[in-house]
Amino acid sequence: MARELTEVGVVGLGTMGAGISEVLARAGLSVTAVDVDDEATARGRAHIEQSTERALTRGKLESAERDEILGRIRYSTSLEDLAAAELVIEAVPERLELKTEIFGKLDAICPPDTILATNTSSLSVTELSVATARPSRVIGMHFFNPAPVMKLVEVVRTVVTEPSVVEDVEALAARLGKVDVTIGDRAGFIANALLFGYLNHAVSMFEARYASREDIDAAMRLGCGLPMGPLALMDLIGIDTAYEILDTMYKQSRNRLHAPAPIIKQMMTAGLLGRKTGRGFYSYA
Ligand code: CAA
Repeated sequence: MARELTEVGVVGLGTMGAGISEVLARAGLSVTAVDVDDEATARGRAHIEQSTERALTRGKLESAERDEILGRIRYSTSLEDLAAAELVIEAVPERLELKTEIFGKLDAICPPDTILATNTSSLSVTELSVATARPSRVIGMHFFNPAPVMKLVEVVRTVVTEPSVVEDVEALAARLGKVDVTIGDRAGFIANALLFGYLNHAVSMFEARYASREDIDAAMRLGCGLPMGPLALMDLIGIDTAYEILDTMYKQSRNRLHAPAPIIKQMMTAGLLGRKTGRGFYSYA
């Protein structure tokens, strides 16, 4: 019988962490959302308020419901506030040293039966698990952007993840209204392993001036029925996140498909990170 989780924590309130916090609060869970400073928590809060406001305007939420959802999220700049969490989902940038450090700290703060989950999309969950004294209670819980909309959660079990932890996380995914696929620990899991070769190829096509960004995107939307073209999707994912995912997959597989197209790094250095900075392959008002 799966454990019904009620108290959860989220670490990192970027696009994914904020979206995940919203999804958890919408399902009635009590969320402690942590980021490094007041500016970062304010940005996360604004993201969640905007997203729930949009749902309100579209008639998908009543204002009392919206207030309840927002009231279930407590913001903090201290990991110590996660001492009562039954599950913590880490969603900080895709850098192994940063995530390892956070897992070590969470291990010291949270009770031994707390499940420590990572939203990593390409790093090794196994490597993160051994930064703790509870590798059997560490798992991957990979959401997709925008988290409130996309239905999939990839549940990543390592060779030592306890079956009951997998069961608890699968049950939570169902409670969140998501569909889960449960897989082993391999770079990119299923979706990113398949998606990023395609995105990288689209960027190379644009970089070689073979076709305009609009034509590349139109071809995939109108010719293949995808909701978004690849360059618009790169902007949604974030150019920095896309670079980190490609770079990690390339280092693991040495598959040229994943060698990041040079323009991705250049855009990252120039701060053209996509929607979140107002400019990427496209500009956003
Ligand atoms: N946050 C919350 N809700 C959002 C949202 C956001 N950022 N963006 C859109 N929505 C909601 C809208 O409110 C709307 O909700 P209702 O239907 O309930 O009214 C719904 O999504 C559709 O939105 P729109 O009508 O504005 O726009 P759309 O129909 O063009 O859909 C989209 C937007 C959902 C983003 C769609 O274009 C899409 O599915 N794109 C592909 C996204 C995708 O592939 N994501 C995966 C990226 S890979 C990843 O995330 C993995 C990783 O590790 C990087």
